[in-house]
Amino acid sequence: MKKIIAANWKNNGSKKFVKDYFEYFFKNVDSNNEIIIFPPDLYISQVNDYRRKKNFMLGSQNINYVSDDETFTSGHSSDMFIDNGCSYTLVGHSEVRGHDITYSEAAKSLWASNDLQVIFCVGESADTKKDGNTQNVISKQLEDLCDKRSYPKVIPKKVIVAYEPVWAIGTGNIPKIDDISFIHKFIKTYVSENHPFLKEKDIMVLYGGSVNSINASEILNAQYVDGVLIGGASLDSKEFTKICNLKI
Ligand code: PGA
Repeated sequence: MKKIIAANWKNNGSKKFVKDYFEYFFKNVDSNNEIIIFPPDLYISQVNDYRRKKNFMLGSQNINYVSDDETFTSGHSSDMFIDNGCSYTLVGHSEVRGHDITYSEAAKSLWASNDLQVIFCVGESADTKKDGNTQNVISKQLEDLCDKRSYPKVIPKKVIVAYEPVWAIGTGNIPKIDDISFIHKFIKTYVSENHPFLKEKDIMVLYGGSVNSINASEILNAQYVDGVLIGGASLDSKEFTKICNLKI
């Protein structure tokens, strides 16, 4: 199966940034991996125009946590993202669930994702890790993903979970490779045992948190790792292209 290399630009970028980024990317990318870019909403349409020239997938960094049938000032519906070329959405990124909404509210976005493929983010805080509670916290976070009521409209064909330890995001610290494999296996087992529709073969787990062009190869080659979700390093087109071009 192809590995997923995903870029989460967060709240970074400008029209000029997008133009310069893809000028370099298209000249240099030579990848067999599945590449997904998550720009800020305001630049999705511009990135989509570039996408027609070369094949990578597009996603939104978040989706409403009310269903598309409810009105919601400031919201965007799944249809709008699809209309602008998106096929993926992140749900429950720690920077979203850490601020204005709770985890459970973030997870309600599953209701509104419809035909977008969700990448469901989980991960423990530094304190949780110190207390040895990582598996408990992650199972709790996965409950909504595994709840039948989360799929009132569209039954997903696969599950993608991003394991992003909060203490590893933007810090330059990553877990030991064996620890990443261990938690990825734990997630695959938990979801396959609890998901109402899907089996282990339908579950992919990505790692996120301080991935860069130096550590990416080792992480991507680790057991049970199906891809990476990259924040800071994905903003540098050279760095991101280098990771996309890895032969795994
Ligand atoms: P980082 O962010 O690569 O900058 O640590 C990852 C993420 O938040 O998805």
